[in-house]
Amino acid sequence: MFVRGVLVLLICCITSFALGLGDVSSGYELSAIIERNDGSIVAILDIIESSNLYGPDTLQLQVTISYEDQDRLHVHITDYDSSYKRWEVPLELIPRSKTPGSSPLKSHNTLFDDASETNSVGSERGSSHQFQFSYTSKPFGFAITRNSNKEVLFNSTPGSSHSFGSMVFKDQYLEISTSLPKSASIYGFGESTRPDGFRLAPGRLYTLWATDIASANPNVDLYGSYPFYLDMRSGGLAHGVFLLNSNGMDVSYQGIFITYKVLGGVLDFYFFPGPSPLSVVQQLTQLVGRPAPMPYWSLGFQQSKYGYKNVSELEDVVSNYANARIPLEVIWSDIDHMDKFKDFTLDPLNYPADKMKSFLEKVHADGQQFVLIIDPGIKTENNYSTYQNGLEAGIYIKDSSGSLYLGQVWPGPVNFPDFFHPKALSFWTSEISKFHETVAFDGLWIDMNEISNFCSGITCTLPPNASCPRGDAPTQCCLICDSSPTIKWDDPPYSINKLGSHKDLGALTIATSATHFNGILEYNAHNLYGFSEAIATNRALQSVLKKRPFVLSRSTFVGSGKYTAHWTGDNAATWNDIGYSIVGILNAGLVGIPMAGADICGFVNDTTEELCNRWIQLGAFYPFARDHSDIHSKRQELYLWESVAQSARKALGLRYRLLPYLYTLVFEAHVLGSPIARPLFFQFSSDPITLGIDSQFMLGRGILVSPVLSAGATSVKAYFPKGSWYNLFNYSQVVNAGEGSYHVLSAPLDTINVHVYEGSIILLQEEAKTTAQARKTPFTLLVAFPLQSTKADNSEPDQATGQLFLDNGDDVEMAIVAGKSTFLKYRASTLNTSGVIRASVMQGEFALQKGLVLQKVVILGMKAPPNNLKINNQEAASPIKCSYQASSHVEISGLSLPLGKDFILSWNTM
Ligand SMILES: *[C@@H]1O[C@H](CO)[C@@H](O)[C@H](O)[C@H]1NC(C)=O
Ligand SMILES: *[C@@H]1O[C@H](CO)[C@@H](O)[C@H](O)[C@H]1NC(C)=O
Ligand SMILES: *[C@@H]1O[C@H](CO)[C@@H](O)[C@H](O)[C@H]1NC(C)=O
Ligand SMILES: *[C@@H]1O[C@H](CO)[C@@H](O)[C@H](O)[C@H]1NC(C)=O
Ligand SMILES: *[C@@H]1O[C@H](CO)[C@@H](O)[C@H](O)[C@H]1NC(C)=O
Ligand SMILES: *[C@@H]1O[C@H](CO)[C@@H](O)[C@H](O)[C@H]1NC(C)=O
Repeated sequence: MFVRGVLVLLICCITSFALGLGDVSSGYELSAIIERNDGSIVAILDIIESSNLYGPDTLQLQVTISYEDQDRLHVHITDYDSSYKRWEVPLELIPRSKTPGSSPLKSHNTLFDDASETNSVGSERGSSHQFQFSYTSKPFGFAITRNSNKEVLFNSTPGSSHSFGSMVFKDQYLEISTSLPKSASIYGFGESTRPDGFRLAPGRLYTLWATDIASANPNVDLYGSYPFYLDMRSGGLAHGVFLLNSNGMDVSYQGIFITYKVLGGVLDFYFFPGPSPLSVVQQLTQLVGRPAPMPYWSLGFQQSKYGYKNVSELEDVVSNYANARIPLEVIWSDIDHMDKFKDFTLDPLNYPADKMKSFLEKVHADGQQFVLIIDPGIKTENNYSTYQNGLEAGIYIKDSSGSLYLGQVWPGPVNFPDFFHPKALSFWTSEISKFHETVAFDGLWIDMNEISNFCSGITCTLPPNASCPRGDAPTQCCLICDSSPTIKWDDPPYSINKLGSHKDLGALTIATSATHFNGILEYNAHNLYGFSEAIATNRALQSVLKKRPFVLSRSTFVGSGKYTAHWTGDNAATWNDIGYSIVGILNAGLVGIPMAGADICGFVNDTTEELCNRWIQLGAFYPFARDHSDIHSKRQELYLWESVAQSARKALGLRYRLLPYLYTLVFEAHVLGSPIARPLFFQFSSDPITLGIDSQFMLGRGILVSPVLSAGATSVKAYFPKGSWYNLFNYSQVVNAGEGSYHVLSAPLDTINVHVYEGSIILLQEEAKTTAQARKTPFTLLVAFPLQSTKADNSEPDQATGQLFLDNGDDVEMAIVAGKSTFLKYRASTLNTSGVIRASVMQGEFALQKGLVLQKVVILGMKAPPNNLKINNQEAASPIKCSYQASSHVEISGLSLPLGKDFILSWNTM
């Protein structure tokens, strides 16, 4: 039987029939259950006793339970009356086809098979599913149990041990809860700034409503909405729960239960069985879309500021970086380049087209890139061609009276393109294309897309006699707005905790009664605006550049990562914010947005030399590394302080050496969804201490970053899970036998601690000013074995593995294709004094054409220098040199092994 329904009628449940305190509804009872031919199960539910709190109950519900493939259980709950169409996230944003069986997850997973924890994903499990579904009939509730250990993972039936109510289903209010064991560690429900840390703190309410509020504000709903959580249970088993619903919601985490209170849509749950945290993210992204491939250059260091006054300021910044010998890959422009803040225009005085052209010619000649900002609001100006083109295409959002919705942003009065409109893409592409002929930008930054609005109103009009925006207060509302709600979409019966104070849904954004194409309500689609804009921008850029697009979006949803990178928004230059940044980046990675970063040195307020110093040391290891600051903040380019410049050269120097490793992580993210920056427990999930660590993080499987996050510190207390760890700057060791432990590491001002873990093989290149130059330098293979001298038992060989993906760096496709890319796997093992490193090439042609060469091999963990070094079974001869450095570090130099060919490097001292 495909799904097992187990009737569990417990005595305790009888008590929950009566409405308890705080219950909105009596719940539903099962009236029929049908097993369909396709193996899914459909249950029909009837309301037990209807109530009118938050509106009348939906009387009859349909619950569909299906396994969509081996890894995913889908529970979909909606109105039984299908003539009443409830809102669901459009298939255009998250395509959902029910194709059981073959999945790309499995075929790609064998590429990255080095970590034991991922093996379970691709391994044979026979035909049995990982979950069991069961339910109670009255009141209806369902439970999801892990088959392997019979642990209940999700249980929505109210019981005496947990004080939540029955499921509620109304027009504008849905409620459902699940009980949890106290010992569960829960992560997710972004986007918000988390002083509590990455692991959720019991007692908190997470409100999901895209809002333009600075991320410097903790514990309020920020720019994006991620209705997903990862649940870590004892023994390190992970599962994930995704509520595919874009309506506003409050999610309350009470330690022993979670309650969702949702403003509409349907209850559309996806359960991902893991059992490793990494495989949960892989399973989620298989549903919502794998992350976008990122251009190689986007891994370089980037400089931005709101308030670069003219082209010469940009020129100065670029040349100051060069003079300070600090790598700079991308120079950014915030709204400063615009003519009166209008998209796709240039300020004729400070950013004239001819000066921009010669500036960008130089930037591009030096192998650097330029990214600029666009906001969604299009100024309502008669002679502004972008606005006119949007009018003609009829793609602007309308208000509830049927007029174009008038909002206000930087340029003053604006209309907003509706990216659900079928003509929006060609409008957007055409504007981007025309502007690209004037300004040869390399990527686009889409900001203000929550949608941010400086006015709040159900309908707004332009006062005929006033200037808008006001010159003295450009962010003050200059429109005349009617804010009294007359329809239910502006004032739902349940009020989510917007901005921590139950603000109106329409505050700081457009009215929720506004409408998109085909009558789609902003009420339902609000949290998807940034997502829809990212799709259009990604597609437009791809068709204009004919290259792999780079888009950076502020507002994101689960699935946005397929189209865009993300940064954590307007943080502040404080010691708290530097710590919050790690949690923000991990939270994005958890929902398939791995290319994430935070404004290095802080956006709001003035940074300090010490803070900026520590922040570039950390930021050098963000997946997306950009320094950005506010117009009111003092300048904070890295060359402004000698101490910061020195740290930047050192930390970014290591980042640039690690580019082949980072780019391979971008590839892994693209084919599997794996986050680039990961919490420690992704790798060490059976070590419970790692569950609470968020002041350190990992890059992939092999690298641990342990930054200083407090003022005045010259050491850092860092946790090291069991095994051998080697400092990547000087190969000094931290070794834990038996179990992990904390170590106090020296961290003077110019130092960040970055370690590589035993079992890793990492490809490095040399430092350079740009990624293009770095790509021309020879390769070093770094092999980290467990430190041999510490081993008690020498009967088992030590292993290390790694991979490398390479391609042009900006082809539209990022895939293993003959002649276009190269993928290699490395395996090494050593036992006593003999050892071997093997390179196996899948598609070597690309690397051979480019003449890429491995020049050096560094082996860590060796007790003694290797003898009888052989390469492809030939005695190694001059100019190959093998030297034993201090700290068990062996260096084999003078090699010239083509990267695109298999090789075997072996040694034996016997
Ligand atoms: C650019 O702006 C700076 C700062 O306002 C000013 O000093 C400089 O003269 C300007 N340069 C040009 C070419 O306009
Ligand atoms: C466009 O119109 C605005 C006012 O609506 C005016 O200030 C501006 O000079 C006009 N620009 C052109 C190019 O006609
Ligand atoms: C503009 O007109 C409105 C009403 O017509 C009036 O209340 C307001 O004071 C006027 N504002 C200015 C700046 O003249
Ligand atoms: C920025 O600085 C001002 C003035 O010192 C202070 O009032 C404000 O709270 C600071 N903002 C943040 C986000 O730290
Ligand atoms: C390596 O760097 C660490 C951290 O800066 C330092 O504590 C240690 O002494 C260094 N070791 C060697 C051998 O230089
Ligand atoms: C490795 O050394 C151990 C003793 O240290 C010995 O028992 C074992 O047989 C050796 N293994 C091989 C393959 O030489």
